[in-house]
Amino acid sequence: MTAGGSGLSPAQRLDDLRSEIADHNHRYYVLDDPIVSDAEYDRLMVELQALEQAHPDLITPDSPTQRVGAQPLSAFSSVRHAVPMLSLGNAFASEDIDAFNKRVAETLRGAGLAGADGLVEYEAELKFDGLAVSLRYEQGALVRAATRGDGRTGEDITSNIRTLRSVPLKLRGDYPDVLEVRGEVLMNRRDFDRLNEAQQKRGDKIFVNPRNAAAGSLRQLDPRITATRPLRFYAYGWGELRIVRDGQVELFRQEGGESGLPRDTHAGMLDWLAELGLPVSPHRQIVRGVEGLLGFYDDKGTHRAQLPFDIDGVVYKVNSLQAQGVLGFVARAPRFAIAHKFPAQEETTRLMDIEVQVGRTGAITPVARLQPVFVGGVTVTNATLHNEDEVRRKDVRIGDTVIVRRAGDVIPEIVGPVLDLRPDDARQFVMPTHCPVCGSAIERPEDEAISRCTGGLFCAAQRKQSLRHAAGRKALDIEGLGEKLIDQLVDSGRVKSLADLFTLKAEELLLLERMGRKSAENLVEALARARNPELERLLYALGIRHVGETTARDLAQHFGSVEAVMAADEEALLQVHDVGPVVAGSISRFFAESHNREVVAELAAAGVHARVEQRQPTGAQRLAGKTLVLTGTMPAWTRDEATRHILAAGGKVSGSVSRKTAYVVAGEEAGSKLAKAQELGVPVLDEAGLKQLLGM
Ligand code: IVH
Repeated sequence: MTAGGSGLSPAQRLDDLRSEIADHNHRYYVLDDPIVSDAEYDRLMVELQALEQAHPDLITPDSPTQRVGAQPLSAFSSVRHAVPMLSLGNAFASEDIDAFNKRVAETLRGAGLAGADGLVEYEAELKFDGLAVSLRYEQGALVRAATRGDGRTGEDITSNIRTLRSVPLKLRGDYPDVLEVRGEVLMNRRDFDRLNEAQQKRGDKIFVNPRNAAAGSLRQLDPRITATRPLRFYAYGWGELRIVRDGQVELFRQEGGESGLPRDTHAGMLDWLAELGLPVSPHRQIVRGVEGLLGFYDDKGTHRAQLPFDIDGVVYKVNSLQAQGVLGFVARAPRFAIAHKFPAQEETTRLMDIEVQVGRTGAITPVARLQPVFVGGVTVTNATLHNEDEVRRKDVRIGDTVIVRRAGDVIPEIVGPVLDLRPDDARQFVMPTHCPVCGSAIERPEDEAISRCTGGLFCAAQRKQSLRHAAGRKALDIEGLGEKLIDQLVDSGRVKSLADLFTLKAEELLLLERMGRKSAENLVEALARARNPELERLLYALGIRHVGETTARDLAQHFGSVEAVMAADEEALLQVHDVGPVVAGSISRFFAESHNREVVAELAAAGVHARVEQRQPTGAQRLAGKTLVLTGTMPAWTRDEATRHILAAGGKVSGSVSRKTAYVVAGEEAGSKLAKAQELGVPVLDEAGLKQLLGM
């Protein structure tokens, strides 16, 4: 009997399928270099399942179909770690790292282990923000997995860990007789977002961060639930390691100095773990001395947002295992390693109040007033809550203790409340019915998320915001016209519109509080310089809803003057590249308002005349006849934006890579399309490369 017409016996075919699937897992999770699509992978799994169903006697415990097998547990049993799971000393300041390095160098010098130049060699790694686990392999097979617990005893989570595809059920190559692998279980941010979306749709619990989601997923008593959670594992160390050589049992207890280990450096050991088929992060580096350490820290600190998962710092480990042995341990942490933490990206603080802010177009934004909290390297006192629905969705109430997050240079956000700490008198936010600045009614159009003040330019808040917008760098770029000054000018009633700015005289500016002669003269000069802006900047400065920089540029190119744009009806506007009905409608409504037409006339009267720059034909045809494929997430552009730019340059965007593809643009977490491009030798660009191609 042969399996599926393959000419092989079922046992042989099963064997082939299992190792092929294990290979694909290995390529995907360990080498980060998949060669088949998800569909192809699924096809192999289906064939394996069918064949096993027909031959249940041939099912083996390490078969990929057996990852989710066990029935729900009633409780986790405890496991004593053969070798305790230690923790790391923490450092935040570079002085602490300097001191650490000096101590290490001193001890090694005393032991005659200093390098020629006296610099200590370290392996620097990421500090994964997940959960520590220990995986025990006996004769190459995964037999037990445990949480860290108190370091000596943890919980048995074997049936949950078996569901992680990045954890091999069987080691490859020349594995030792016993190996305890130590590492971290975590969830990629993107997978986390998707999980939360799905949880929300089902009305299930929303997780506050990936770490929390990973912890919750590992603590499930039903492994079938864990199996649906996108967890990953990265190895960073080892516990018990036993190798039988010539009938002699050699027992290595732990990182730290024994000779006879398979490799003599920490980096070498991690390479060895990778050879055994375990996922080891490629983001590690051998560095020397304190400068090497701090260089790694800065590099990872700057680029952490580009990693697919959260890290809370980096870890430095003396690379030589012999040197590790000499340094030994204090209490429950090694002397040869230290964690260098980034400033926390999440902190808790009290939500004192929720106030509303009025934007340029009247949008009312609820803003959280927070008890000042130091997070992500800055002190945060406010955070936007975006809109009414968002306040409801996050279920934050005035008086709550909330989690505040500031990741990288991203604006601070409120993750959610700490429900256990909610006081009895916590109050719900109520959207005001009238604008707190001008008293006009606040309206929220049906099927829109944003409430708006209906006061228009009658509202001082909207006026201030539109002046701020017009004075900004991307608009008229009026140097010296800051927020405070705009507030003064509007509050005093002197400036009611953009045109009023251009009639300001140094003498009257001098009458304003805290205004010196020099600043007044500088501002008047800056206003004079701003009288001759590029047309696109002037159009942008007008603050027409839906007219961003790009649309302003397209309008300028197309019409050549403000008057021509003003005269255009919707049909004429629709002729402009990339202008659709929404934008056209907004532009024509804007110029239908008499006060807006007046501002344009007054600007001309005040001597503001736009100039039209003759451009290279916007590279309109730079990508003519070329097909591009987009994959992964780009740092700044969305897929749609990138597509629009490519189409505008005469190119095409396709969903699949072939020999005809001109370029593949790959962002973070690019997958099989990137692999395909490399296979076919299609040039691969990142976002910056694409921009260059577009001449931007
Ligand atoms: S080594 C003997 N390396 O940090 C040293 N730990 O406080 C054992 N962690 O519980 C730890 N990334 O969960 C090490 N690259 C890394 C790590 C790492 C994250 C966690 C681990 C441990 C804690 C140490």
